[in-house]
Amino acid sequence: MSRLSTPKFPYFHSKFLLLALFLLSLVSCEHQDDESEQAVLLKLKRYWLNPVAIKHWVPLVNSSFSHCSWPEIFCLNNSVIELSLRDKNISGIIPSFICDLHNLEYIDLGWNYLQGEFPTSVYNCSKLEYLDLSQNLFVGALPEDIHSLADQLHYLDLGANNFSGQFPAAIGRLQELRSLYLYQNLFNGSVPLQIGNLSELENLGLAYNELLPSKLPFSFKQLKKLKFLWMIRTNLIGEIPDFIGDMTALEHINLSQNELTGKIPDDLFLLMNLTHIYLYSNKLSGEIPQVIKSLNLLEIDFSENNLTGTIPSDIGN
Ligand SMILES: *[C@@H]1O[C@H](CO)[C@@H](O)[C@H](O)[C@H]1NC(C)=O
Ligand SMILES: *[C@@H]1O[C@H](CO)[C@@H](O)[C@H](O)[C@H]1NC(C)=O
Ligand SMILES: *[C@@H]1O[C@H](CO)[C@@H](O)[C@H](O)[C@H]1NC(C)=O
Ligand SMILES: *[C@@H]1O[C@H](CO)[C@@H](O)[C@H](O)[C@H]1NC(C)=O
Ligand SMILES: *[C@@H]1O[C@H](CO)[C@@H](O)[C@H](O)[C@H]1NC(C)=O
Ligand SMILES: *[C@@H]1O[C@H](CO)[C@@H](O)[C@H](O)[C@H]1NC(C)=O
Ligand SMILES: *[C@@H]1O[C@H](CO)[C@@H](O)[C@H](O)[C@H]1NC(C)=O
Ligand SMILES: *[C@@H]1O[C@H](CO)[C@@H](O)[C@H](O)[C@H]1NC(C)=O
Ligand SMILES: *[C@@H]1O[C@H](CO)[C@@H](O)[C@H](O)[C@H]1NC(C)=O
Ligand SMILES: *[C@@H]1O[C@H](CO)[C@@H](O)[C@H](O)[C@H]1NC(C)=O
Repeated sequence: MSRLSTPKFPYFHSKFLLLALFLLSLVSCEHQDDESEQAVLLKLKRYWLNPVAIKHWVPLVNSSFSHCSWPEIFCLNNSVIELSLRDKNISGIIPSFICDLHNLEYIDLGWNYLQGEFPTSVYNCSKLEYLDLSQNLFVGALPEDIHSLADQLHYLDLGANNFSGQFPAAIGRLQELRSLYLYQNLFNGSVPLQIGNLSELENLGLAYNELLPSKLPFSFKQLKKLKFLWMIRTNLIGEIPDFIGDMTALEHINLSQNELTGKIPDDLFLLMNLTHIYLYSNKLSGEIPQVIKSLNLLEIDFSENNLTGTIPSDIGN
C-alpha cells in the first residue's frame, strides 16, 4: 500500500512546493525591492556621515514604504523617482550605488559641499532627466564621455563649482537638453560649437568663465528654441552677429562685461519676444538701432559702451 502511494505523494508534494515557492518568491521579491530602496537611502545617509538635515531618515517599523513620506523623497508607485537634497550640508562624494534607486529621474544636490571630479557614478541612473550639482566643490575637467548621462536628460546645472578645462564636444550629444548651466566655473577653452546641436535648448548659462576670446559661434543660429542666453564675462569678442535676429525665441539676453565691438545689429530689435537685453560694459559703438519690433521689452542696459544716439522712446509700450 505504502509502495503505491509513496511515489504519488512526493510528486504531488513537490509540485505544490514549487508553486508555493514561486508565489513566495513573487511576494518576497516585491517586498525586497521596496526594502532595498529604503536600504539604499539609509546607506547614502551613512555614507555621507549622517547629515543632521536628514536625521529623520530612519526606518518606520509599521511601513515598508515609509521613506516615500520623507520630505526629500518623491515616489511613484512606491519607487523613488526624486531625490531633493538641496542645501543639506552634505559633504563627500556621490557614490555609484545611488543608481541602485533604479527609477531615479531627478537629483538635486545643489548647494552642498560635494567634492571630487564630475561624478560619472550617475551615468548608471538610466532614467535620469534632471541633475543639479550647482554650488558644490567639484573640480577638474568634464569627462569626454559626458553624453553617457541618460539620453533623456533635459536639465543639467553644474554652475558655481571649480570645473576647468575645455567643454567636451560630447555635450552636444545630450540631445534632449532644455537647460544647460555651466556658469561660474574655471572653464578656459572656447565656447563649444557643438552646443548648436542642442535643438531643444531653451536656457543656456555660461556666464563667469575665463574662456578663450571667441565670437558668438555661428552654430548658435540653430538654437531656435533658446529663450535665455546668459554669457556675462565670457570673453566674447567681435561683433554681435546678425544671425541673432534668427534666434527668434530669445527673451532674455545678457552679454554684459565682454569685449564686443562694432554696432548693435538692427536685427536684434526684430526679436518679437525679447524682454530683457543687457549689453552693459562692452566696446560697442555707433548708433543705437531706432526701429524696434520687440514690443515686450521691459529692461535694457547699454551703459558703459561708446554708443551714440538714444534708446527710442516708443519702447516698452
Ligand atoms: C505608523 O507610521 C506613521 C507614519 O507613517 C506614524 O505616524 C505612526 O505613529 C506609526 N504607528 C505606529 C504604531 O508606529
Ligand atoms: C504603476 O504601477 C501600475 C501597476 O504595476 C502600472 O500599471 C502603472 O503603469 C504604473 N505607473 C507608472 C506611472 O509607472
Ligand atoms: C555641516 O557639516 C559639518 C560636517 O561635515 C559639521 O561640522 C557642521 O556642524 C554642519 N553644519 C550644520 C549647520 O549643520
Ligand atoms: C554601473 O554599474 C555597473 C554594474 O553595477 C558597474 O559595473 C559600473 O562600474 C557602473 N558604472 C559607473 C560609471 O559607475
Ligand atoms: C576653487 O577655485 C578658487 C579660485 O581659483 C580657489 O580659491 C578655491 O580654493 C577652489 N576650491 C576648490 C574646492 O578647489
Ligand atoms: C586650462 O585649465 C587647465 C586645467 O586647469 C590647464 O591645465 C590648462 O593649462 C588651461 N589652459 C589654458 C589655455 O589656460
Ligand atoms: C554637431 O556640431 C558640430 C559643430 O557645430 C557639427 O560639425 C556636427 O555636424 C554636429 N553634429 C550633429 C549630429 O548635428
Ligand atoms: C513667443 O512667445 C509666444 C508667447 O509665449 C510663443 O507662443 C511663441 O512661440 C514665441 N515665439 C517663438 C519664436 O518662440
Ligand atoms: C545681466 O546684466 C545686468 C547688468 O547689466 C544685471 O543687472 C542682470 O542681473 C544680469 N542678468 C542676469 C540673469 O545675470
Ligand atoms: C567713441 O566714439 C567716438 C565717435 O564715434 C570716437 O571718436 C571715440 O574715439 C570713441 N571712443 C572710444 C574710447 O572708443
